[in-house]
Amino acid sequence: MPNPNLQVSFLKPDEAEQYMRIRHEVFRSTVNNILYSRGEPSQKTLDRVTEEIRDGVVNKGILYLKCVDISTGEMIAGARWRHIRPKAKGATERTWAEVDAEFASPEPYDETHPEMLNGLYDLFNSNKREILGTRPYYVLDTLVTLPQHERRGAGSMLVRWGCDRADEAGVEAYLEASLMGAPMYGKHGFEPVKEVELELTKWGGKENMSFVLMLRPAKRERSP
Ligand SMILES: CC(C)(COP(=O)(O)OP(=O)(O)OC[C@H]1O[C@@H](n2cnc3c(N)ncnc32)[C@H](O)[C@@H]1OP(=O)(O)O)[C@@H](O)C(=O)NCCC(=O)NCCS
Repeated sequence: MPNPNLQVSFLKPDEAEQYMRIRHEVFRSTVNNILYSRGEPSQKTLDRVTEEIRDGVVNKGILYLKCVDISTGEMIAGARWRHIRPKAKGATERTWAEVDAEFASPEPYDETHPEMLNGLYDLFNSNKREILGTRPYYVLDTLVTLPQHERRGAGSMLVRWGCDRADEAGVEAYLEASLMGAPMYGKHGFEPVKEVELELTKWGGKENMSFVLMLRPAKRERSP
């Protein structure tokens, strides 16, 4: 049963900073070790992250979602989905040029070890290219729930939202799960394709990080 106090909706541009703060806190001991391996990000970097989120909402059609506890008004979780699809009207597959354009590496932050970040993108992108080819899909890039609000159903609602969109469009959904996140995605129909390891120790990181690459078949392919 969904929690009646929790509501999922689109993030507004002026809520980008709040989303950034949730992401920053939740990723503190995991993803931040890759993004900011040279040290705690400066205010300048955090402002840049906020601006990237705002720009994603306003100009790039990135599907940023928030989950709000309407009994307190607090934003407790967030997600970033994208619908990857062909540019040409009527096309069912993307061109390889479109596929490769999606994989452009972002500019590193001041606190980023550029090779470490490239290592992450190379690992994720080469697998996406191999697993999804030119097919259209929905991808869950980020899912974060504040630790004090875990297990109230926010994460599941945010996953469900994208799965429903993928089903409406008749396309697959894809994500790179942390080992902690993988069981939840299984409950929503995602199937593990491959486990991969990012060798952070190669670049001076404390430990390597594992991910489960997961694909959720398009609705028409799944058994009723
Ligand atoms: C994974 C995460 C998004 C789940 O969010 P959530 O709002 O707690 O999600 P739900 O309440 O819908 O719970 C879904 C499932 O997540 C798992 N889960 C959530 N919190 C957990 C915890 N502290 N320990 C172990 N499993 C947990 C459980 O399997 C849970 O299902 P259950 O309660 O039926 O056992 C959240 O824990 C999180 O932000 N984790 C850190 C960041 C991360 O790993 N993000 C996912 C990257 S792929």
